[in-house]
Amino acid sequence: MSKRRFLMCPPDHYGVKYVINPWMEGNKSRARADVAREQWQAFHKVLASRADVDLLDPRPGVPDLPFTANAGLVMGKRVVLSRFRYPERQKEEPHYEESFRRNEFEIIKPPATTYFEGAGDALFDRGADRLWMAYGWRSVLEASEFVAARLGVEAIPLRLVDERFYHLDTCFCPLAGGYTIYYPPAFDERSRRLVEELIPADKRHAVSERDAMHFACNAVDTGDAVVLNTCTEELETVLRGWGFEVIRTPLTEFILSGGSAKCLSLRLDETGAQPARKAQPEGVRRRVFIKGHLLDTGLLTQAMDAITEPGGSFEIADLRAGLRRDDLSEIRLEVSALTAHQLQHILARLVDLGAELERPETANAVLKACERDGCAPEGFYCTTIFPTDVCIDGSWIRVENQRMDGTIRVSKGGQSPRAEVVLMRDLREGELVVTGAEGIRTHTRKEQREEKGEFGFMSSQVSTERRVELAVDAVAWEMLQVRKRGGRIVIVAGPVVVHTGGVEYLCELVRERFCSALLGGNAIAVHDMEYALFGTSLGVDLDRGATVRGGHHHHLRTINMIRQYGSIDEAVRQGVLKRGLMYELSRMGVPYCLAGSIRDDGPLPETEMDLIRAQEKYRDLLRGADLVLMLSSMLHAIGVGNMTPAGVKLVCVDINTSVATKLADRGSLESIPVVTDVGLFLSLLARKIRDLQMEPHREPGV
Ligand code: ARG
Repeated sequence: MSKRRFLMCPPDHYGVKYVINPWMEGNKSRARADVAREQWQAFHKVLASRADVDLLDPRPGVPDLPFTANAGLVMGKRVVLSRFRYPERQKEEPHYEESFRRNEFEIIKPPATTYFEGAGDALFDRGADRLWMAYGWRSVLEASEFVAARLGVEAIPLRLVDERFYHLDTCFCPLAGGYTIYYPPAFDERSRRLVEELIPADKRHAVSERDAMHFACNAVDTGDAVVLNTCTEELETVLRGWGFEVIRTPLTEFILSGGSAKCLSLRLDETGAQPARKAQPEGVRRRVFIKGHLLDTGLLTQAMDAITEPGGSFEIADLRAGLRRDDLSEIRLEVSALTAHQLQHILARLVDLGAELERPETANAVLKACERDGCAPEGFYCTTIFPTDVCIDGSWIRVENQRMDGTIRVSKGGQSPRAEVVLMRDLREGELVVTGAEGIRTHTRKEQREEKGEFGFMSSQVSTERRVELAVDAVAWEMLQVRKRGGRIVIVAGPVVVHTGGVEYLCELVRERFCSALLGGNAIAVHDMEYALFGTSLGVDLDRGATVRGGHHHHLRTINMIRQYGSIDEAVRQGVLKRGLMYELSRMGVPYCLAGSIRDDGPLPETEMDLIRAQEKYRDLLRGADLVLMLSSMLHAIGVGNMTPAGVKLVCVDINTSVATKLADRGSLESIPVVTDVGLFLSLLARKIRDLQMEPHREPGV
């Protein structure tokens, strides 16, 4: 075996002078120069006894220069120079460049913002023709593409997720013969799987946390020996079993800066990998355009997270910030991903946020036929609450029946094509469904903010009580407006409305025609009628607040009584049911749907126990709603939220903060959480509406 050649740099000016990784934190100026020198010399001696070592001249002002692994990546007589992420280390670049030039390397420089930290983040596999690369903290994903293209090798990008292991060589070490030691928790799930797939089980070893924390993976492979700071006996046994000698050489002063043996040396005789047999997969980049309140609504952050969370990366190609509060900002992002599949996933998320894909070629949405009834084709696009357009045969058409969690079905039969949201269960074999993210655009709330007023009170920083009052004011006003223009108010209610004494106010709203439809379950109806018939709700005397002996039977007696009459309407007609919510609904002819559930007693004759039918009835009653008032029923409120497109105002009242805010989380500015007792809310609301209604009766001119 020919002797290896390394580049090292004496630590004359070494020190922890700034903090750019978690190891450096709290260690500023704590590295002892004399100890560092001794440790470095001992390490140098070990290496020089087994390999040739070139030295780089030490320089002041660049305290991390001894970490020569970050100079660049050598392959044959070529070197890809580093582009450091942090300005502190960018100052090292010219020194490395000069040294490589002097040694007649052909220099390859990545673009300025394609951060790449050399052999710290790029390690050749010693058993296969591939280059392991890392991104996440220092180098960027684009660097993998760049290096692979320029060196003509297959690069496997791995994503680092634990900042303590910010360079690949801190947690991954390919050794002669294709053996590898690594620390799996430093990587994301996908990368871990990739490593397991590509390296045979008997050739890899996952080191313990203890070894990882002592930089055991930051080892130098001299061919026959593994040189490292320290390691456990367990790891030593593994390495010996693979035929390596293990040499410990303490480098603790350098660990204060986040580096150890491997970081302090750079292989110069790297022959690299054979050219990649298959071409590097292309087409995993796409330019997107987003216009909106990018800065003040957090949209930009959301978009960036949508790209990086699944493992993608981006570069800002162009940013035009709106200069005033009302101005929109515009951004063009170059999005890259590891695979075409991942890219589609990211793009779909961006489209949901209102991004437009910039398209050189076709703009058309990609349609795929359903292969069987009730199932969507692979890669189907999942709808949001926002108005959506799809591009079919070169022109944009609006999608009908918008709701979230559906698919977009396109019918081209005869005249002009139509697109509508359809639940997967309603799809039929052969129908065409939109897949991927091409040719789709959504009109998110950011734009709607200009068109529609929003409930202004939500933004104000006020106490909870005051918030409730303000919410009541706004909701009362809105309800009057909707009624005045003949709009629809749908009320969703849970049994808590009855327990908290809110029913009489709800009845008032029904009588005053503020309720176009009521959506609930079996329970609200039973509790309401139990109260109307017996004065109790689940056996509790609501007027006195005390449990009535044997009262819990009232609940079942109520159900039985209605069942005997055959229906609620019949019980009303025969004068048995004389008050309460169900009575008012029946009397006023207000449609309602009671959706059944597994826990229902009875049920009442009108409770819809077929859940698909119940969902359909809900959907029909919600059609054209302007305002939905959700009163203390998590189940029904969320069900309704799922069916409602953006633009419908949702008011969700619940004593439980998480329920009230869950709906607001669906990202609609029109969802208003009101955290309070629902009985109290209804009494305040009814009073406010009464107060406001006085006005029109005044004589004009008085
Ligand atoms: N302080 C240096 C940095 O944070 C340490 C570099 C360690 N080098 C390495 N290849 N892991 O950049």
